[in-house]
Amino acid sequence: MSTALLRVQDLTVVFGARQALRGINFELACGETLGLVGESGSGKSTLARAILGLVRPARGRVEFLQQNLLACTSMQMREVRRDLQIVFQDPLSSLNPRMLVGNAIAEPLIIFEPALDALARRQRVGAMLERVGLAAAMADRYPHELSGGQCQRIGIARAMIMNPKLLICDEPVSALDVSIQGQIVNLLLDLQRDAGMAMLFISHNLAIVRHLSHRVLVIYGGRIVEVAPSVTLFDSPLHPYTQVLLAAIPAIFGSERAHTGDGRAPAGAAGVLPDAAGEADIGCAFRHRCRFAVAVCANSVPPLTQIAPGHWAACHRARDWQSNAGALSL
Ligand SMILES: Nc1ncnc2c1ncn2[C@@H]1O[C@H](COP(=O)(O)OP(=O)(O)O)[C@@H](O)[C@H]1O
Ligand code: SF4
Ligand SMILES: [Mg+2]
Repeated sequence: MSTALLRVQDLTVVFGARQALRGINFELACGETLGLVGESGSGKSTLARAILGLVRPARGRVEFLQQNLLACTSMQMREVRRDLQIVFQDPLSSLNPRMLVGNAIAEPLIIFEPALDALARRQRVGAMLERVGLAAAMADRYPHELSGGQCQRIGIARAMIMNPKLLICDEPVSALDVSIQGQIVNLLLDLQRDAGMAMLFISHNLAIVRHLSHRVLVIYGGRIVEVAPSVTLFDSPLHPYTQVLLAAIPAIFGSERAHTGDGRAPAGAAGVLPDAAGEADIGCAFRHRCRFAVAVCANSVPPLTQIAPGHWAACHRARDWQSNAGALSL
């Protein structure tokens, strides 16, 4: 029997004429932090929402704790949410402005531990606030009285109060000041080490993903284009798109790489994401931005292929880069 906590198979999401996800496959082990990177519009949030049952996929399967989530009733899904939580990008808008933050954090306790009395609940909330680096007295404040970083700590406290087995973080620091981002990332890292939950950490910022993740998925145009252990991905990326992302790493967390400041692709590599459903179904979706494209790239979609143990890439030329280390320099 597999030890995967989460298994996503052939997940495909369509919005009208646009395919946001195209046959996504991956597994996430208990306690593992999996980074998910890709530029804006590549399908990261759609993947998070589809796992949580907030978007209905056209095709595919999401298995969590050996349960097929797409077949769950809303009651069953509510039970699953005890173990499957999310931290959103915008901390303020993810909290109810009229609800004391202590009550927001306590909400999952009311649902999942109804026998708990008010005093015990308040103690659990106070302990959780302290665990995320805030004073227990913060429970009596409203969201608008708090800073962005404090609001995100509240969002994390609410997500963590039931000790979930999987925490999905969808760009949890992108809306925060750069000075606060590192603190929140380190808080998530501490919580992950203490609680041992798995994390799906979504970001367009590879520096942060490198800091946190055991393994990284790179997504482009709704497809996974590279998967590797974090160290391997950063030291020897195989997909030309991953190279573009690496060249754009902002110089935080001590990165020596050149950066453009916003974590996006550098000038010269800029291009549009594949849009029309047909284009990306005929050839490699990255071919118009790829300086290594050859004839086959225009007429055949490169399958995600294991090039080395645990290192997968969807590029017709991935074996060229692997057999000629250093040849792939953009
Ligand atoms: N509810 C929606 N309706 C229509 N299109 C959507 C919807 N949500 C996302 N999309 C489209 O799907 C694609 C992927 O979006 P998203 O998952 O938000 O990307 P990311 O989180 O990587 O920026 C984009 O082209 C986006 O415009
Ligand atoms: S398949 Fe071709 S176009 Fe696509 S990334 Fe590889 S070399 Fe570039
Ligand atoms: Mg998003």
